[in-house]
Amino acid sequence: MIQLFHVSKYYDRRPALSDVNLQIAKGEFVLLMGPSGAGKTTLLKLLFCAESPDQGQILVQNRNVARLRRSDVPYLRRSMGMVFQDFRLLPKKNVFENVALPLVVQGASAFETKRKVTEALKAVGVEHRKDSRPTTLSAGEQQRVSIARAIVNGPIILLADEPTGNLDPELAGEIIELFKAINARGTTVMVATHNRQVADQVSRRVVTLNQGKLVSDEGVGQ
Ligand SMILES: Nc1ncnc2c1ncn2[C@@H]1O[C@H](COP(=O)(O)OP(=O)(O)OP(=O)(O)O)[C@@H](O)[C@H]1O
Ligand SMILES: [Mg+2]
Repeated sequence: MIQLFHVSKYYDRRPALSDVNLQIAKGEFVLLMGPSGAGKTTLLKLLFCAESPDQGQILVQNRNVARLRRSDVPYLRRSMGMVFQDFRLLPKKNVFENVALPLVVQGASAFETKRKVTEALKAVGVEHRKDSRPTTLSAGEQQRVSIARAIVNGPIILLADEPTGNLDPELAGEIIELFKAINARGTTVMVATHNRQVADQVSRRVVTLNQGKLVSDEGVGQ
């Protein structure tokens, strides 16, 4: 599903990722941990084709992402969802419109858009707020909306970068439960966090980066 072979990424000649090897199978729930500056965000950006590696190979669903033509990137991205710490919702659009955005960009029909957006909003439990502006929602609700937007295309892989960073522990716990439920329905999930509590709650595979190097890869229970 996701394979990294000897992947390195440099910023200003300093390695943000250094010779990383990693294989993730379909349906796994992987936590990406490590201190600030360890390279977690960089790794997610490489998977999402927001950056390209300087060395090594990255295969996502057996496709070499560094060799994709520019025009192929949107197709790959459609099979992935991305969730950010700061939600990144458009303030002038309502909840429904925010979640519909990836479908609108693809030219989906109004009928299909309504069906998929409603389903995604139901899955994250904020359907009742569909007509509200994101700014009128609580932080936890806003993150649910951003997760709905990430899953609206039925992605094979869901990537999240510090998704609980702006939430208090109780809400963070709810969001992690949501990721677990999405994973249980078959989506591969990868969550970057430096929150130990999240790791304890998920108790799956934990991959740890430090100064750009993969320093441990542990399966915790299952
Ligand atoms: N666009 C950039 N330009 C220059 N350096 C960068 C850039 N992005 C990341 N870096 C550097 O790469 C290293 C890894 O950064 P990255 O953001 O991947 O870490 P992180 O593990 O996500 O940290 P945090 O927990 O603080 O989010 C850091 O040293 C960072 O300063
Ligand atoms: Mg980061």
